[in-house]
Amino acid sequence: MRIERRSTVKNSWTGKLVRSLETRGLVETAKLAASSIAFRIRLWLPDWWDNYVQWRFDRKYGVETRGEVRLPELHADPRYQHALHYGTCSRFSIRRMLKSLPIEHREFTFVDMGCGKGKALLVASEWPFRQIIGVELSPALLGVAERNVATYRGKKKGCRSFRLICADARDYEIPLGNALLYFFNPFREPLLSAVIENVGRSVAQSPREVYVIYKYPQFRAMMDALPFLRLVRESAWYRIYRVVPERTGIWGCPNRADSEGGTGTSGAE
Ligand SMILES: C[S@@+](CC[C@H](N)C(=O)[O-])C[C@H]1O[C@@H](n2cnc3c(N)ncnc32)[C@H](O)[C@@H]1O
Repeated sequence: MRIERRSTVKNSWTGKLVRSLETRGLVETAKLAASSIAFRIRLWLPDWWDNYVQWRFDRKYGVETRGEVRLPELHADPRYQHALHYGTCSRFSIRRMLKSLPIEHREFTFVDMGCGKGKALLVASEWPFRQIIGVELSPALLGVAERNVATYRGKKKGCRSFRLICADARDYEIPLGNALLYFFNPFREPLLSAVIENVGRSVAQSPREVYVIYKYPQFRAMMDALPFLRLVRESAWYRIYRVVPERTGIWGCPNRADSEGGTGTSGAE
């Protein structure tokens, strides 16, 4: 009986709350709870509101980013086996994620893995990134992204250097300098894991600062379990990880002992 009661408490809201307070502390737990409530409220808002916000962005900036696109190649081309369809999010939420990281933007390249029609690239250009790169599997979507970059009327004051690449994210080598990698739920777990492992391997070979923003983190359990990713920000909508060079030792990172100890993620910093 005692055991049963214990396991019920462990899985109840109270149990989750206690564990969160233990691992995250009061402030981070309160922030996470607030974002979870907002997330649930957002799910109840009608689609027309979202459509309106996206339509307004397109109209104001002279681009075409809204709408969902179910890729026609999904069933015909094996490279699309794990691809998820195209959709984008509001400028507000992209800005919120980008603002939450206190990095020196000039020293970082922003890469959108699965850039679709390029909305995140456009919003990222408000910051002075060294370069902005979009990687997209669908030539049709990449064509739209190219037009959008050319016609965008918003502030491109920050970064004007864009590179659009039509490629499978699995084959893409991330830049050799510091990088901020953006994944808006582009593909399912087997591919996501292969792509993130490529990132870990690259950082093992050439240690540098690399962050991964995972928006709409459907496969977060897999990401949380990777020893070389440390969770640095979290909300109900996204998670941000830092790739820890000292923990990429599984690829034989030279001259790097596992100086931080342990192999699990240590929770938000
Ligand atoms: C949810 S959309 C995100 C679009 C964009 N990042 C944004 O925020 O506006 C996911 C995108 O990933 C692309 N994608 C799926 N599999 C891919 C792959 N293997 N390599 C590159 N892009 C891929 C899809 O074509 C789609 O455009």
